Amino acid sequence: MKILVTGVAGFIGFFVAQSLLEKGHTILGLDNINDYYDVSLKYARLKKLGVTKTVAQQYNNLVFSDTHPNFSFIRLALEDREKLPTLFKTQGFDTVCNLAAQPGIRYSLENPEAYVDSNIVGFLNILECCRNFAIKHLVYASSSSVYGINEKVPFEITDRVDHPISLYAATKKSNELMAYTYSHLYGFPCTGLRFFTVYGPWGRPDMAYFKFTETILANKPIAVYNNGKLARDFTYIDDIVNGILLVLEKGFKPNTNSKSNAAIYNIGRGQPVKLLDFINTIGKYLKKEVKLQLLPMQDGDVYTTWADTAELKKNYNYEPKVDLDLGVKNFISWYTSYKK
Ligand SMILES: NC(=O)c1ccc[n+]([C@@H]2O[C@H](COP(=O)([O-])OP(=O)(O)OC[C@H]3O[C@@H](n4cnc5c(N)ncnc54)[C@H](O)[C@@H]3O)[C@@H](O)[C@H]2O)c1
Repeated sequence: MKILVTGVAGFIGFFVAQSLLEKGHTILGLDNINDYYDVSLKYARLKKLGVTKTVAQQYNNLVFSDTHPNFSFIRLALEDREKLPTLFKTQGFDTVCNLAAQPGIRYSLENPEAYVDSNIVGFLNILECCRNFAIKHLVYASSSSVYGINEKVPFEITDRVDHPISLYAATKKSNELMAYTYSHLYGFPCTGLRFFTVYGPWGRPDMAYFKFTETILANKPIAVYNNGKLARDFTYIDDIVNGILLVLEKGFKPNTNSKSNAAIYNIGRGQPVKLLDFINTIGKYLKKEVKLQLLPMQDGDVYTTWADTAELKKNYNYEPKVDLDLGVKNFISWYTSYKK
């Protein structure tokens, strides 16, 4: 298949592109390489795909990988309403995997415009291109944050998700609505995947597990809310990538909550981990003492996230495999060698 992977210089997009290439697909990776976090990490990921910083830097210039004959890259923003359709027209993609977005919950308080630009305007442009250039399947990233302060666990795709508590979550929920409308009006299949806290090597420096690692190494106390009585459905990157590949390769499959040609699935490990266990495992592999600053519950925080992944398992044989200990071990091993 010829697949457009957006957000390819990002954490998940990089691994998805790498795995799709290993399976023989032809990939065009798109990314605007924005500076929301350290761009050197984005260039380092692109380099692993055979695209050096010097060639990746130029805007709207299709470049080819030095190491993967089936990989090309373009630095382009989803908001570019002129150049994006030209790319679709000239490239003839079968499928689109849209992972580019402005992520992060706290940053949406500081820079709300970035979320509307990338996640709403950018996503609309993707939908328009899918509609106009006969894309067979659009697979896009949603998020567990759409569940808001849902207290019922595990989170099921049939739960109501109309009370987002951050603008980030509101944009992801909007993506699900927009994808539904487009699939209803124009008939092309769309699958939204609600990712649950993805972690691992080459991960995102703005995420909590990076901050925990940096704080432990600096011998400082980690601020933990609700006295540490929080749990998260941490999902190792390989399990997320396997799930995305199953959906891309097996194609669209409707599920319980599907309407028209639009489906939504949870993709997580399905086993919440106590935050303190996660932090202590980081300490174990760093071989450092963990200091904590226990604080009361923070406004807008959720006690637990927990994915019900039964539908993804039933329709796609999705089976997460990597447990907390191995996942954290791999992350710390990568982190220490990368920082050197
Ligand atoms: N990592 C997680 O735990 C997690 C959880 C839930 C959902 N998600 C979603 O998964 C997707 C991938 O997340 P990630 O963790 O890899 O994030 P990431 O920030 O590492 O990757 C996103 C990439 O998209 C690019 N990008 C952003 N806006 C763009 C635009 N307008 N045009 C072109 N490129 C743009 C960025 O430069 C970045 O390289 C995102 O949609 C995110 O919202 C991630």
